[in-house]
Amino acid sequence: MTKTVSVSAIKQGTVIDHITPGQAVNIIRMLGLTNDQHQMTVGLNLKGKRTSFKDLIKIENRTLSDFEAQEIAVLSPGATINLIDDYNVSKKIKVSLPNDISGILVCPNTNCVTYSEPVKTLFYLQQQKDTIRLTCRYCEKAFKRDDIKEYCA
Ligand code: CTP
Ligand code: ZN
Repeated sequence: MTKTVSVSAIKQGTVIDHITPGQAVNIIRMLGLTNDQHQMTVGLNLKGKRTSFKDLIKIENRTLSDFEAQEIAVLSPGATINLIDDYNVSKKIKVSLPNDISGILVCPNTNCVTYSEPVKTLFYLQQQKDTIRLTCRYCEKAFKRDDIKEYCA
């Protein structure tokens, strides 16, 4: 039997792996990854080694900041970030959920002051089993992660 790779290896850059299925597109929107000119390959609902499905993003010639890694954790706490150097995985980072996240997520409460005042949004994060809860610093309302539909420009 021939071993096949569904998405080809990259020479230099970053692979965001083991993304919760359905979250790759949100990660791309959140990080604004289509705004720059890096070549990117996206795999959706790929069958992983350990049977479950995953999304995956490969970005050529780009690294991610620690802050971007934390942002990814909000959408996909099980993701792994692999830095690729000359075809080798030079570093593997398991993302971890930050305590709060600022300036990235739009508050789902349209009456929130963050819509009318020029302030950065700020949410406090809490993981409860499989769900991530976010509490807005400004309107003090709590949301489920999936209530967030928009990302700050
Ligand atoms: N990868 C890549 N290009 C390379 C090297 C690796 O696109 N030159 C990708 C692999 O396809 C994989 C991810 O980077 O999706 C991590 O690679 P590796 O650590 O070799 O794979 P695994 O051992 O399967 O990783 P894990 O244990 O995190 O599942
Ligand atoms: Zn709010």
